[in-house]
Amino acid sequence: MSAVTSTPAANSSANQPILVLNGPNLNLLGVREPEIYGRDVLADVEALCIRAAEELGRSVDFRQSNHEGVLIDWIQEARTGHAGIVINPAAYSHTSVALHDALAALDGKPIIEVHISNIHKREAFRHHSYVSSVADGVIAGCGVQGYALAIARICTLLTPSA
Ligand code: DQA
Repeated sequence: MSAVTSTPAANSSANQPILVLNGPNLNLLGVREPEIYGRDVLADVEALCIRAAEELGRSVDFRQSNHEGVLIDWIQEARTGHAGIVINPAAYSHTSVALHDALAALDGKPIIEVHISNIHKREAFRHHSYVSSVADGVIAGCGVQGYALAIARICTLLTPSA
């Protein structure tokens, strides 16, 4: 008989970082359409995420790619390497069944989708996200503060009593 008293999932996620993924063109944050996305650069968002996670006793692994396949490889890595995912899929939100499928295969780890802008207030093609139906929560239109809110929510979902 095993003496294990907590679930393997709880054990394995306890000290793992939260993966914060950023999709295409977010490397240009701060200079790209600042009237929509603001003036913070991606390094500022990374610092914000590190602070938000540290306050809650967690760490983050912060990444950005312009390539769909790279994002999918990273999501698959999170199946064993990360506690949960905060993802701003950027334009792939509106096009990528492959990102949807990769996130659906995350085996119950928490996923929060973030958009800096309010996608529902913008062009119709931004109103649908393939990611939302596999996310535990969606934050849009809160500026870069949305990342800190998403990290707080992931930490709540990782707390056993949540
Ligand atoms: C975005 C919204 C998307 O529609 C857009 O393609 C982006 C950024 C946001 O953070 O508001 O690149 O995800």
